[in-house]
Amino acid sequence: MKVAFLGTGLMGLPMAQRLLGANIPLIAYNRTPEKLEPLKAAGAEIAIKPRQAIAVADCVILMLTNTPAIYSVLLSDRASHSIAGRTIIQMGTITPTESKEIQDAVVAAGGEYIEAPVLGSVPEAKTGELIVMVGGNQLQYERNLELLKNFSPNPIHVGAVGTAAALKLALNQLIASQTAAFALSLSFAQLQGVNVDIFMDILRSSALYAPTFDKKLPRMLDGDYSHPNFPTKHLMKDIEFFLEEAKNVGLNIKSLEGVREIIETTMKMSFGNSDYSAIFAAINHTLEGK
Ligand SMILES: NC(=O)c1ccc[n+]([C@@H]2O[C@H](COP(=O)([O-])OP(=O)(O)OC[C@H]3O[C@@H](n4cnc5c(N)ncnc54)[C@H](OP(=O)(O)O)[C@@H]3O)[C@@H](O)[C@H]2O)c1
Repeated sequence: MKVAFLGTGLMGLPMAQRLLGANIPLIAYNRTPEKLEPLKAAGAEIAIKPRQAIAVADCVILMLTNTPAIYSVLLSDRASHSIAGRTIIQMGTITPTESKEIQDAVVAAGGEYIEAPVLGSVPEAKTGELIVMVGGNQLQYERNLELLKNFSPNPIHVGAVGTAAALKLALNQLIASQTAAFALSLSFAQLQGVNVDIFMDILRSSALYAPTFDKKLPRMLDGDYSHPNFPTKHLMKDIEFFLEEAKNVGLNIKSLEGVREIIETTMKMSFGNSDYSAIFAAINHTLEGK
């Protein structure tokens, strides 16, 4: 089986490298060709145009930013002609509505479609320890399980197309809300003269604790948001997606709208390409401005 890997950014590159490491024949495409160099050096075939990769593969993995990128790479007039008979595995974070629309377009072009968004970041992508959530039917899940095991020890079948995309958004809403809540409590404790070690000791021993707090604490204390695995701009995109979908199903989204404003401020402070824990700077900034 030959795999076409489209989109070798922060996540796509290590994921494609895992397939090569497992001796799976691979042809890769990326809009910015320079990012393909490590794959070329490791023996991957390189495609100049996405359709060249799609045409020679049995299975096409997409790890692209968003739906416009997917349309541009997969569903442009020329590329979509190559889809017939191929399985498309969409692994980026998009909305359930978009995922179902892409499924319709792929099926209309004679292909099969599943979604397989991931939780975890670059370190987990490198070691194959992502949490992969699969949306598709049971047969599709079973057929693609061995391939997906290169990214995760236990890819989980969530349900039909749309359900895995929805679950991924539900989890990313937690990333934003928990990080903003932690940054607010940390800032408040600091400004009230509470020792940070005592704050963290008590938090760690309580039911309120989440491991992400300790992961992000050093960045927040040092104000160092460089070399991100997951940049603020992507979290912003996911929160916009969540708000749109949650509004459609009639949920009260006021708490997350507040978090979105804070993320907007973070972006305005030029932290769009920085680690999303820069939310801390926007929260302190807000306090300082009062
Ligand atoms: N980073 C994480 O920790 C993480 C974790 C879980 C899920 N995700 C999700 O996974 C997806 C990829 O994330 P990433 O961190 O790998 O992002 P990234 O480093 O920004 O890579 C995005 C990829 O999409 C391509 N792309 C963007 N717009 C395009 C367009 N209009 N036409 C063609 N190609 C386009 C980029 O090409 P260029 O190289 O030419 O820009 C690149 O290959 C996103 O949906 C993200 O939300 C990320």
